[in-house]
Amino acid sequence: MGYYRDIYKSWKNDHLKFWGKQAKAIAWGKKPKKILDDLNSPFYKWFPDGTLNTCYNAIDRHVLSGRGEQDAIIYDSPVTNTKKRITYSQLQYQVSQFAGALIKLGVIKGDRVIIYMPMIPEALVAMLACARIGAVHSVVFGGFASNELAVRIDDCKPKVIVSASCGHEPNRIIEYKPLLDKAIEIAKHQVKKCIIFQRDSLKAQLKPTQDLDWSELIKDAFLAKPIEVDANDPLYILYTSGTTGKPKGVVRDNGGHAVSLKWSMNNIYDVQPGDVYWAASDIGWVVGHSYIVYAPLFHGCTTILFEGKPIGTPNAGTFWRIISEYKVKVLFTAPTALRAVKRDDPKGDFIKNFDITSLQSLFLAGERADPDTVLWLEDKLKVPIIDHWWQTETGWPVAANPLGIEALPIKTGSPTLAMPGYDVQVLSEEGVEVPRGTLGAISIKLPLPPGSLSTLWSADDRYIESYLSTFKNYYETGDAGYQDEDDYLYIMSRTDDVINVAGHRLSTGAMEEALSNHIDVAECAVVGVYDNLKGQVPLGLICLNNGCNKTHEDVCKEVVDLVRNEIGPVAAFKSVAVVSSLPKTRSGKILRATIRKIADKVDWEMPATVDNPLVFEEIKKALKPLGY
Ligand code: COA
Ligand code: AMP
Repeated sequence: MGYYRDIYKSWKNDHLKFWGKQAKAIAWGKKPKKILDDLNSPFYKWFPDGTLNTCYNAIDRHVLSGRGEQDAIIYDSPVTNTKKRITYSQLQYQVSQFAGALIKLGVIKGDRVIIYMPMIPEALVAMLACARIGAVHSVVFGGFASNELAVRIDDCKPKVIVSASCGHEPNRIIEYKPLLDKAIEIAKHQVKKCIIFQRDSLKAQLKPTQDLDWSELIKDAFLAKPIEVDANDPLYILYTSGTTGKPKGVVRDNGGHAVSLKWSMNNIYDVQPGDVYWAASDIGWVVGHSYIVYAPLFHGCTTILFEGKPIGTPNAGTFWRIISEYKVKVLFTAPTALRAVKRDDPKGDFIKNFDITSLQSLFLAGERADPDTVLWLEDKLKVPIIDHWWQTETGWPVAANPLGIEALPIKTGSPTLAMPGYDVQVLSEEGVEVPRGTLGAISIKLPLPPGSLSTLWSADDRYIESYLSTFKNYYETGDAGYQDEDDYLYIMSRTDDVINVAGHRLSTGAMEEALSNHIDVAECAVVGVYDNLKGQVPLGLICLNNGCNKTHEDVCKEVVDLVRNEIGPVAAFKSVAVVSSLPKTRSGKILRATIRKIADKVDWEMPATVDNPLVFEEIKKALKPLGY
């Protein structure tokens, strides 16, 4: 414990000393003598002369220090009625064996491996096995369709893909194999082999030339030892949505990642080795990478791997059941999950059925934490409800209430203060810091701290153009907001076309690209509109080509199916209306912000530069049947 402001100041006064000290918590092969190499800025290298192995830090060192019999993973899957505990020793064996299997297939340091899997322990085994041998994993969220998977295959060019026969959604089984086969067919890059984990609930038909059965493959695999890699070697690539349809491949290195995540466990989440930590997210997202897999394991905690939903599996009491059953100390989830729980169980009756006294705090991120939900949680759980803010790119919290340092006063609506490592400033369009209370572009002074992205995969130029070109010497977060007189941050909206649907980051640009592929669509616009459960949902407007003789209803159904097939069900694209034209400025820019305001029924003004004012009346009429 200490005082946040003192620690923040000590970081600001000498950031090299600060991170040099934190690096000592990691097991290095070669200890770094140099903390930061900024010779090739803005491509910074943290701990440039250090070597380590991420998997060793996550598993082997704990087995060596006597945690072998402690649970590393508790897998709880209400959708398959399965519960399973895996100790650190068992995990070490399974990961070493799968790493041996990868080596047998010719996977070597630096090779990419795509992991397209549901929330099962084997997904974590595959990730850690890659880390063990220096291969670079790229996990693709199961809710993405073949096309999205194919785009990622072509971008990172994996030697091997690891997948499973199926995933379980509450209302259906998702067959992964047809999705995977279609992606391989679409992709130009040739994958050497696919490893398929056959689940009991559904066995996939394997193609002898392409597929290998996980269980068969590991039978005669040797147990691979962790290899030393450079701190700056890539550990993983995680694709995230940007302004265009092409996702950005965020690259995370090994050294900075281990140092920053380890620091965050004590200092932000206030958990100790041996504690049970639960991030109710998915391994396909950054929250899953950082706080289901790596950080809890670096810290010697027990991590919960939950394959289910906050409601309906079987009910809104599942979260409380898990907390009570496994004595969870910290829960981290997205506000949307708890909005769903609150909607189904407004009085919190389920909570009363369980002893949740182990719960010390609840952390929220992924989207704005709405005050209604936060206040409900405070009332029902009687623990600190901590909003914190970060992104795929940063890899760990930018702003938080660092409970392990000092519990700062909570201001509902704010994720509190910048963490050491982050010099956050709110800038005007001219790149000048705005006065307190004024809205601006939330930006971070370079260099970003250890653990933040080092670049975009095979796209250094895009990295600079996407994040570093608007404000000199600053990283642009893409979020807009303000700071108050106590430096508390308030995150209000995005400055780009990214929307946040049920805590999932999606690109409206990608949806527009999919819609434009429909033969009858001449023009389209997709905006994120308010939804009281998911925060935002996409809403599409389309204009049809002359000569289209289908009914509007038929075209709308077809385009909804198209987005589902091209991007995936996770896009939750269900609302679309046909209009005769889109509102545009005289220079041809679609007025998406005004469309959004009309749908959200908030005050809007006729833009001065609009070329066809009558179109707004037509939009209002078209949106009515959709409930807007
Ligand atoms: N594989 C295949 N399909 C998936 C999937 C996966 N891994 N995850 C979601 N989907 C599908 C769902 O089945 C659903 O399909 P449907 O349109 O046929 O019903 C669609 O994608 C949307 O899913 P989801 O966003 O989960 O919405 P939902 O209506 O099923 O559930 C919530 C609503 C709020 C309960 C749910 O969104 C939730 O738990 N959100 C928390 C999100 C989260 O943890 N985010 C991580 C950031 S920290
Ligand atoms: P992702 O990269 O998927 O983690 O999404 C990151 C984006 O989600 C951020 O840039 C924000 O727009 C949004 N976000 C994450 N956490 C918060 C939060 N606590 N409050 C408001 N928005 C958030």
